[in-house]
Amino acid sequence: MNRIQKLFNLEGKVAVLTGASKGIGESMARGLVEFGAKVVVSSRKQAAVDEVAASFRADGYDAMGIECHVASAEQREQLVAKTLEAYGRIDILINNAGTNPYYGPVEKMSVEVYQKTLDINLTSALALSNLVHPHMKAQGGGSIIHISSIEGLHASSYFTAYNVSKAGLLMLTKNQASEWGKDNIRVNAICPGFVKTKLSSMLWQDEKTYQKAIRNIPLGRMAEPDEMAGLAVWLASDASSYCTGASIVNDGGILLAPLM
Ligand SMILES: NC(=O)c1ccc[n+]([C@@H]2O[C@H](COP(=O)([O-])OP(=O)(O)OC[C@H]3O[C@@H](n4cnc5c(N)ncnc54)[C@H](OP(=O)(O)O)[C@@H]3O)[C@@H](O)[C@H]2O)c1
Repeated sequence: MNRIQKLFNLEGKVAVLTGASKGIGESMARGLVEFGAKVVVSSRKQAAVDEVAASFRADGYDAMGIECHVASAEQREQLVAKTLEAYGRIDILINNAGTNPYYGPVEKMSVEVYQKTLDINLTSALALSNLVHPHMKAQGGGSIIHISSIEGLHASSYFTAYNVSKAGLLMLTKNQASEWGKDNIRVNAICPGFVKTKLSSMLWQDEKTYQKAIRNIPLGRMAEPDEMAGLAVWLASDASSYCTGASIVNDGGILLAPLM
């Protein structure tokens, strides 16, 4: 392997990804495993993560599935404990699980649905980071990646809880990066634009809505989940060893849309 190629090599590293049974999480997990990491695929459903891990193993990679609803403190602890038991270390954590249960006016949003969104999208990322922090510190470093969104940078009508949770992840990224740099733990965020997954299906399932959704995207289309994987590999690897506290937008240019 050549000098710069080596920086992308993830052999010997162990990665944990939440929400990785499908969509962006599955693509990033595949990216990490293909670059040599041992990967723990996690989501709420054991059968779903077992299937993804088995598909990776069938291709000759090392992977296992562990069920974890990220809003459950007990399941978060189990995720970290079982990973350490199986692989002995954690080098990469990707907080990817996300939800968007409410679409509607802010004044009609219940505190309960707001809290649920924050619990899953934001608080779980803090809690899981705190669980892996002592292990990464003892190992001499690690890489934490939060999957935020362009919705964390730009307001969208009727998505308030989601927008607040994704904006919160960006500040969490900066604070963790600022405090944990001394431990060689890098923390960065990815802000995807519109990606064709189950979560965004309301944007692409019928042609009329899809055309409306893409009208301001300079690249003229939504992304495929695999188009998010390369950035995750880079941020997880030593190729990004000087990058921390960053929020990287991968959106086909949609944030460049003119205001008027
Ligand atoms: N798609 C987009 O356009 C877009 C844009 C910007 C940001 N994002 C962000 O990207 C991340 C992944 O979204 P996606 O579009 O790939 O969605 P997706 O295809 O619907 O996948 C969501 C994943 O999260 C898991 N999940 C859902 N709730 C969970 C919970 N409470 N605990 C643990 N796992 C849970 C799901 O698996 P189970 O059902 O098996 O639990 C699934 O693996 C999210 O944070 C989302 O906000 C997406």
